Amino acid sequence: MMRRQHWSKCAQGAILAVFVVYITFSLFTVNITPDLEESNNNSQPDDKSGVDHSWKLLSVLRLPRSISSVDNKQDGSVLSSHEVTTTENRDELLKDNVIDSKNSIRKSKTRKTILDDIFISVKTSEKFHKSRLDVVIRTWFTLARDQTWFFTDSNDPFYQAKTGGHLINTNCSSSHHRKDLCCKMSVEFDSFMDSKKKWFCHFDDDNYVNIPRLEELLMQYDPMKEWYLGRTSIKEPLKIVTRDNSEQSEFWFATGGAGFCISRPLALKMLPIAGGGRFISVGERIGLPDDVTMGYIIEHMMKRKLTVIKKFHSHLESMKLIEHDDLYDQVTFSYNPYSKQNSNVINIDGFDTKIDPTRFLSLHCYLFPNFNFCLK
Ligand SMILES: *[C@@H]1O[C@H](CO)[C@@H](O)[C@H](O)[C@H]1NC(C)=O
Repeated sequence: MMRRQHWSKCAQGAILAVFVVYITFSLFTVNITPDLEESNNNSQPDDKSGVDHSWKLLSVLRLPRSISSVDNKQDGSVLSSHEVTTTENRDELLKDNVIDSKNSIRKSKTRKTILDDIFISVKTSEKFHKSRLDVVIRTWFTLARDQTWFFTDSNDPFYQAKTGGHLINTNCSSSHHRKDLCCKMSVEFDSFMDSKKKWFCHFDDDNYVNIPRLEELLMQYDPMKEWYLGRTSIKEPLKIVTRDNSEQSEFWFATGGAGFCISRPLALKMLPIAGGGRFISVGERIGLPDDVTMGYIIEHMMKRKLTVIKKFHSHLESMKLIEHDDLYDQVTFSYNPYSKQNSNVINIDGFDTKIDPTRFLSLHCYLFPNFNFCLK
């Protein structure tokens, strides 16, 4: 369960401190009712119980989500000056990638079957459409157009068209408040249930998803069994206690910003607790963000364990620590554009940083050199 050491001692210390403070606060703020399973309260949750404390403290751990970007306008406008790739043949584009792969032994037919078994959801928000979706739509989305859906909080005809009608307005509020994140996750979960697919894979709009590696990863797990695959971002399991100290809970959760996957049998088991919008109620009851709520439901309530996948990466890690030779085998990547001096992006040559501030275009061309915007 121990993750590889990625952070500087300093960052570690800061996060541990925050974590300790958080646990202390959760003594006062978390109120778990033992009969949570019976809850089917679908109404708008109220916010009177002081649960905001836990959100505020956790948001230090999850800083990039809670602040809005200034330099995002820049990458958006540079990217949109490029022509968007839409018509290339997937097999042709994947050719080099599949041949080069150390792990790949399967034929392309198998690959398609696997891809069609995955429901890929990307959580976004109206204010990030321009700055974040362009690079996603140009790169990895082209390899999983039919399987990928974007969950947002507005109707946006421009990106609705660009995604081929795959933009879903969740009708959730657009704030980054815990309640609204849980609202989107709830809609993602319900949409997956409706899709009848075997795997639910959630990502954020600042993730790059290495589609062939995602397929390879899922091929290693029996989709008829219960799986919760993802990456932790804390060193110890999260501990929460009820206000009256009558119940204590310790659980791991997969960081939403690195992406996670859930198999249908596990999702079916979660249905009575999390389906039909009930995910929001659970999030409200424990007062924790969406990905933590997911971990709470699966590990604490369902008694199923998270399987740690180190090939998932969130911007809580230093992207530069991923070795160049290892880039090929990773499933997800991220970036943090918020710090101008110290931006957290993968270390890769390629396009100028003005054109490619996230490094996702350069990464994409490294993985799939046959795309027409890649310089040969
Ligand atoms: C959002 O609201 C519209 C209009 O009421 C509705 O048609 C749509 O189905 C809603 N979306 C979701 C995901 O519930």
